[in-house]
Amino acid sequence: MIQTIGIAGSGTMATSMALIFAEKGYDVHVIYHREETALKSKKSIQDSLNQTYLNNDIIKKVIIDKINYTSSFKMFAPCDLIVESIKEDLDVKREYWTRVCDFAKEDAILATNTSGLSITDISKAVKYPQRFVGMHWFNPPHLIPLIEVIKGEATSDDTAKAVYDVALKIGKKPINVSKDAKGFIANRIQLAVLREALHIVENGIGTYKDVDDAMKYGLGFRYSCLGPFEVSDLGGLDVFHSVGEYLYEDLADDKKPQKSFNDLIDSKKLGVKTQEGFYDYHDGRDQKAIRDRDKKFILMKKFQEEAEKATK
Ligand SMILES: NC(=O)c1ccc[n+]([C@@H]2O[C@H](COP(=O)([O-])OP(=O)(O)OC[C@H]3O[C@@H](n4cnc5c(N)ncnc54)[C@H](O)[C@@H]3O)[C@@H](O)[C@H]2O)c1
Repeated sequence: MIQTIGIAGSGTMATSMALIFAEKGYDVHVIYHREETALKSKKSIQDSLNQTYLNNDIIKKVIIDKINYTSSFKMFAPCDLIVESIKEDLDVKREYWTRVCDFAKEDAILATNTSGLSITDISKAVKYPQRFVGMHWFNPPHLIPLIEVIKGEATSDDTAKAVYDVALKIGKKPINVSKDAKGFIANRIQLAVLREALHIVENGIGTYKDVDDAMKYGLGFRYSCLGPFEVSDLGGLDVFHSVGEYLYEDLADDKKPQKSFNDLIDSKKLGVKTQEGFYDYHDGRDQKAIRDRDKKFILMKKFQEEAEKATK
């Protein structure tokens, strides 16, 4: 039975994951790398609790008491499930996992929250690769229901099932990814969309805002309750097929990120975190963008749950 969770890392994703597990009654050890990030993480958890539970100090204390912060790898020893959410770098993750395996108990489930690195590649650093699996969360984890469960070449069915079941228990919507393909399922689709979106803007077909509006009020609106196969079935496969006949050849097929994307990276315009990306986030617009996103996601989550209930 899984009761004690080790969260490796204390960054954006790890912090949110620790809070979700603690809220659901699990005992959580956050094993951090840097004191500074751990302090930020603790503050972020306190802020979230204050927002969610307002003056209910008893609940807040129960949840806070479930989360233990430590830099000691010894605390991996009692963990039934370890979810690693450290820097996205194959060598860093591999070195880290080798060290974790010196402390983890033999039957612990070992999971990585990599965004798209090969689970099989990371698992080469692990003592028991059959117990190693991908558990891919989405940002912000407390609001996005999806978790992808990815089997590496050696992952056992029991390991994948254990992580799938934990995801269900914490109220998530897990899916199984049957093959360890780069980017899994969701990031393959997301990056294909981004590549075409950039192609549209670079070729003067529309602006950033036009593309974002097309997604929000058209495609994304539909995709919040129907997947691409359901949309096609409802629209008629003959229609989509005949559009594909003349359109596929015109779509972006760049093998690397395009020039306009590279230019933004080179000039350190990385989005909200540097106050400039495709849009400008100076003068407080960065914090507003995050607040607005969270408000919209909270409403969308309610809508999606209600829509599913209403159509059961
Ligand atoms: N941010 C997202 O949208 C998102 C979504 C899904 C998955 N992920 C994945 O989650 C993981 C963490 O991403 P994040 O966005 O929370 O990053 P982050 O930068 O907020 O946190 C990274 C963490 O890694 C730690 N770290 C850095 N170097 C380390 C090292 N050498 N050894 C051990 N720890 C080290 C940092 O101290 C920090 O705790 C990555 O694998 C990322 O790809 C991120």
